[in-house]
Amino acid sequence: MARRGKRTKDPKPGERVWQDKPPDAYDLPDLNPYLKVCWDYGRPILRSDDAAACRGRWAQEFGRGAPLHVEVGVGNGFFFAGMAEQHPDRNWLGVEIRFKRVWLTARKLRAAGAEAQARLVRYDGGALPDLFAPGEIDALYINHPDPWPRGKHAKNRLLGPEFMDTCAVLLAGGAQLRLKTDHRINVDALVEAAEAHPSYRVLGLSEDIRAEGTPWGEDIVTNYQRKFYERGEPVFAVQVERVDG
Ligand SMILES: C[S@@+](CC[C@H](N)C(=O)[O-])C[C@H]1O[C@@H](n2cnc3c(N)ncnc32)[C@H](O)[C@@H]1O
Repeated sequence: MARRGKRTKDPKPGERVWQDKPPDAYDLPDLNPYLKVCWDYGRPILRSDDAAACRGRWAQEFGRGAPLHVEVGVGNGFFFAGMAEQHPDRNWLGVEIRFKRVWLTARKLRAAGAEAQARLVRYDGGALPDLFAPGEIDALYINHPDPWPRGKHAKNRLLGPEFMDTCAVLLAGGAQLRLKTDHRINVDALVEAAEAHPSYRVLGLSEDIRAEGTPWGEDIVTNYQRKFYERGEPVFAVQVERVDG
């Protein structure tokens, strides 16, 4: 994926892993009209620098202390807006790399009347330490992450040992990571990484959500999930806990 942002492999202390830039710093700022739309939208969309400034103080941004629930890769926002609407007692942050999808999700939040309890940022989900202090995330949702099935693209996959090391720091004790995916590779990557890591335990796995439900009970069908249901293909779910201590 073209991230059109800069990722630093070995950031110095205090340096951010990922940097976006304002529209006028792009060579062709009008190429993607949603770039400026997101920049000018205002809350619930935060500019990337403003979101990074919330690191360690998300409760202040929301104006209240509440569990911080984060979704990476919100896509068109059906799940994110639905969850924010159903659980207004939580603070919700959606992280998405594509401008248009950030905007689509913002519109769904507005339609659902769920803007107060939610924020969105166009950011690279592989750079979560820029956005969260250790132990700041109370729940993490990842739905249908891009599979990158070809070996030479495997380095682009979100899930794996490096991401799980990062999450072991950022998730609070007892926090859950909940994955839904159409791709077996993602299930195996998460389960293997969690089982190999002393900070995690796998709480549940569903081989077919439509038949078995999710291991955690509730569900809001995402855009991609619906597509796989329509094709008659299974959608998997994995529930992992960051153990206390
Ligand atoms: C296959 S789509 C799934 C969308 C949605 N979660 C769903 O289930 O319908 C993957 C989503 O993740 C986003 N994405 C991919 N890589 C990302 C990254 N590094 N950081 C944030 N979002 C990312 C894509 O732009 C896309 O919206």
